[in-house]
Amino acid sequence: MATQSTVILGTGSFAPERVLTNADLSKLIDTSDEWIRTRSGIRERHIAGDHESTSDMAVRAAKAALDDAGLTPADIDLLIVATITPDLVLPAAACLVQDKLGVSTHAACFDMNAACSGFIYGLDTACAMISSGRYRKALVIGAEKLSPIVDWKERTTCVLFGDGAGAVVVGASDEPNIGLIGTKLGAYGDSAELLWIPKGGSDSPATTESIAAGEHFMKMKGKEVFKLAVRAMDEAARDILEQHGLSADQIDLVIPHQANLRIIEAIAKYLELPMDRFFVNVDRYGNTSAASIPLALDEAKKSGRIKPGDISLLVAFGAGLTYGSALIRW
Ligand code: ACO
Repeated sequence: MATQSTVILGTGSFAPERVLTNADLSKLIDTSDEWIRTRSGIRERHIAGDHESTSDMAVRAAKAALDDAGLTPADIDLLIVATITPDLVLPAAACLVQDKLGVSTHAACFDMNAACSGFIYGLDTACAMISSGRYRKALVIGAEKLSPIVDWKERTTCVLFGDGAGAVVVGASDEPNIGLIGTKLGAYGDSAELLWIPKGGSDSPATTESIAAGEHFMKMKGKEVFKLAVRAMDEAARDILEQHGLSADQIDLVIPHQANLRIIEAIAKYLELPMDRFFVNVDRYGNTSAASIPLALDEAKKSGRIKPGDISLLVAFGAGLTYGSALIRW
């Protein structure tokens, strides 16, 4: 079967109503607005309500993306949810989203766990499945309710994360060399323990002791993650540019994973690009893991930062440690 171009037909995003500012956090733990802003660039993050699940947020973002594309749930035959915080371990969040959204029972539905790189992994998978001709229209959603897996007593990690969702609709196009023109995915599995949840999986189920020790929360070695993140994102960006014979200054907008402003600034320095070529909203959302890139992409599109003919570079790293980059010609 001939492969086709795959294009983004619509984008959407959703953030919960509740905003937790650095000032709010400084009343809960020993921290300050100044420390959080200078170390991470984050000013505030959104926190989901008790009855607002990952799949609920995913549905809100997906509806917005479908509206933007002028499509309905009935048009979708592939649904991928990139997340590390599915509502339940079983079944996949994608199946819950399918049901809530009213997507056909003939659609393929599954989750993608590649943490903060999950959206790029999901986008690449959807585009490959569509360009094969076996699927017509896909929803790729990044959605996270990180607030329940964050240890709110651990000040080095809890200040960094937030909840939210972003989505895109992907379809085929007959126009050559448009849409997703390349991706580079990879992982450093030997560094898994730099960012992980030690207990609660099948290898070491949660016990009363492990819960008392907080081992069901996300643990991170921040400094090591920082260094590997900069290296992995720089390499992922350079590799894909080289593969496609492009130089960094031909990129109109870089949409990086929004983990930390200092990481984004380091990438800008390595790629020798000014910061105004980078889309940044980490100040308002914190790190929303798999939701971060589609949320930023939606804001970038809707605020006019992306025009027809532009080339965007998406680049991410996350727990795993995974990394990924994608080039999109609009
Ligand atoms: N408020 C005030 N002080 C704090 C806080 C806080 N919230 N957190 C830590 N400190 C203190 C520390 O205790 C330490 O004090 P000490 O010097 O007296 O021991 C001091 O600040 C410095 O702490 P460091 O950990 O050395 O701070 P660093 O400059 O490395 O910044 C940070 C920490 C922000 C976590 C940084 O390492 C980082 O951003 N790492 C990358 C993390 C990341 O992006 N993770 C996302 C992974 S993506 C995914 O898949 C989920």
